[in-house]
Amino acid sequence: MGKALFITGTGTDVGKTYVTALIVKCLRDAGLDAGYYKAAISGAEKDEEDGTLHAGDALYVKEIAELSETQEELVSYVYEAAVSPHLAAQLDNKPIDFDVVEKDFRRALSQHEYITMEGSGGIICPLRWDKEQHVILDDLVLRLGLGALIVADAGLGTINAAVLTVEHLRARNIPVRGIILNRFHDGDIMEEDNLDMVEALTGVKVVATVKSGDETLDMDAEELAKLYQ
Ligand SMILES: Nc1ncnc2c1ncn2[C@@H]1O[C@H](COP(=O)(O)OP(=O)(O)OP(=O)(O)O)[C@@H](O)[C@H]1O
Ligand SMILES: [Mg+2]
Repeated sequence: MGKALFITGTGTDVGKTYVTALIVKCLRDAGLDAGYYKAAISGAEKDEEDGTLHAGDALYVKEIAELSETQEELVSYVYEAAVSPHLAAQLDNKPIDFDVVEKDFRRALSQHEYITMEGSGGIICPLRWDKEQHVILDDLVLRLGLGALIVADAGLGTINAAVLTVEHLRARNIPVRGIILNRFHDGDIMEEDNLDMVEALTGVKVVATVKSGDETLDMDAEELAKLYQ
C-alpha cells in the first residue's frame, strides 16, 4: 500500500495541476513509483467528434509525468460545466458517490508507492450538496486520512490566502505538510517577503518555489517523498 499527499490551493487556477505535474515528475525522475489521482474535475472540454469529456488536469499530469494510466483511472468524475463540482454534478444529474471515490483512490494507492491527489478549487470546495448529502472537499480529505500541501501564488494577496488556508486545515485537523509558492520571481522583494511572512505566521515551511515555465521542481526527491504518509 502506497503513501499519499493531498494537493490543495489557495484558490482555483493557482497552479495546482502545473505544480502537481512537476511533483509527480520529480519523484518519477528519481526512480520512485509515483502516480496521480483526482476525485472530480469540472469544466472539462467536450470532444466535438465523439462527445467524450477531456479531463484536462489528469491528462496534463499524465503527459508531463509520463503516466501509463487511462483518464478513467486518474479521475473518478468528469463534468462539463465550468462551475464548482457540486453544481456541475447537479446540472449533470450525476452526484459524486464517495464510496466510488474511496475505492478508486485505494486502487491508485495499491498500484503506486506515492500517490499525489489533486483537489478541486481551494480547500472549501463543495463536492456534493443535495437532499442526501452535504460534502465539502475537506470532508473528503479527512475521510481519506490525508495530509495537505498548499499551492499558493507568490504574488500580492498570498499572505492572507495562504494563512487562511493553513488555519482552516488546522481547524479541521488536517495535517499541513508544506507550502509551494508558484509563479515566484527570485530577487523580487515582495515575493521574498511573502515567503518569509507566510512561514512566520503559520510555522509551515515553504518547501519549494516554482517559476513561470519551470520544467522541473527544484526540490530533493527524497525530501519531497517525506511529505507523503
Ligand atoms: N509556473 C507556471 N508556469 C507557467 N504556467 C503556469 C504556471 N502555473 C500555472 N500555469 C498555468 O496557469 C493555468 C492555471 O494553472 P493550473 O491549471 O495548474 O491551476 P489549478 O489550480 O490546477 O486550477 P483548477 O482549480 O482548475 O484545478 C494553466 O494554464 C497553467 O498551465
Ligand atoms: Mg487543476
